[in-house]
Amino acid sequence: MRRIPHRYQTNPAATEKRSVSRSDQREGNSLLTSGTKHDLALHLTRDGSYTLKHAQNPETYHSMFGAVTEAESVFLINSGVQERLRRKLDTSVLEIGFGSGLNFLLTAAAARKNHCGLYYHGFDLRLPPVKLIGELLSRNTSDCYNEIENLKATLSADTTHKTPINNYCNLTITRSDVLLSELPEDTFDAVYLDAFSIAQNPLLWQSDFLEKLHCALKTDGKLATYSVNRRFKDALTTAGFSWQKLPGPGGKREVIVATAGTA
Ligand SMILES: C[S@@+](CC[C@H](N)C(=O)[O-])C[C@H]1O[C@@H](n2cnc3c(N)ncnc32)[C@H](O)[C@@H]1O
Repeated sequence: MRRIPHRYQTNPAATEKRSVSRSDQREGNSLLTSGTKHDLALHLTRDGSYTLKHAQNPETYHSMFGAVTEAESVFLINSGVQERLRRKLDTSVLEIGFGSGLNFLLTAAAARKNHCGLYYHGFDLRLPPVKLIGELLSRNTSDCYNEIENLKATLSADTTHKTPINNYCNLTITRSDVLLSELPEDTFDAVYLDAFSIAQNPLLWQSDFLEKLHCALKTDGKLATYSVNRRFKDALTTAGFSWQKLPGPGGKREVIVATAGTA
């Protein structure tokens, strides 16, 4: 069992899901993407899938317990998106922190497998290099070749408004600070809140911004995330959400799912 370094445990809010153990680094699991101006590298997580990490930032893009496990459990399943797609209900998802596109790709693949429509809108102010995104996604999936190529082309293009990624999924990418962006109201069935932690990125976990997410969700929409930080839960309540804790995947004890309507 890998041990989380003590210094990361002293401030759980800063690292509640994304601590990187020193043993990972010692074991040489970091695959350096040399020369990227972002200074990002791939890191192996405990379920065998890869995440990304900046050299100067202790937080990884996904849980070190398992990048794919987290994407599937915390986002796809807890948000109700997986079940909606299974029931062939056209679904719209807003992601705060598109990052490597892993949450997106697994959601797009689920739409394809269920033959169900998906509209996905991702926000990110600083996307990783397209080549690195492609490398991570190719390592983490075995049946998404065309979707990865379409995503790479979309991210390389100037215009990214409602681009088809497969026969069922359209993607819009907005490359800007979501805090300064208008969000459409009453539009999304689910929000994946996957920004960096409350310690690193406090404004994205505060009630002012959560109110915007509440407005963007349809009445029965759900917000899924990994954080169980106390200030975040209070902010959810202030913003009008009902929330509950669910068991987390891997070694993460609990995560949060919040509903826009009354529970
Ligand atoms: C943990 S990573 C997201 C991981 C991603 N969901 C994935 O599947 O790879 C957090 C992302 O949030 C983005 N981000 C942080 N603050 C933001 C903001 N104010 N507006 C838009 N994106 C933001 C970062 O650029 C980063 O890519």
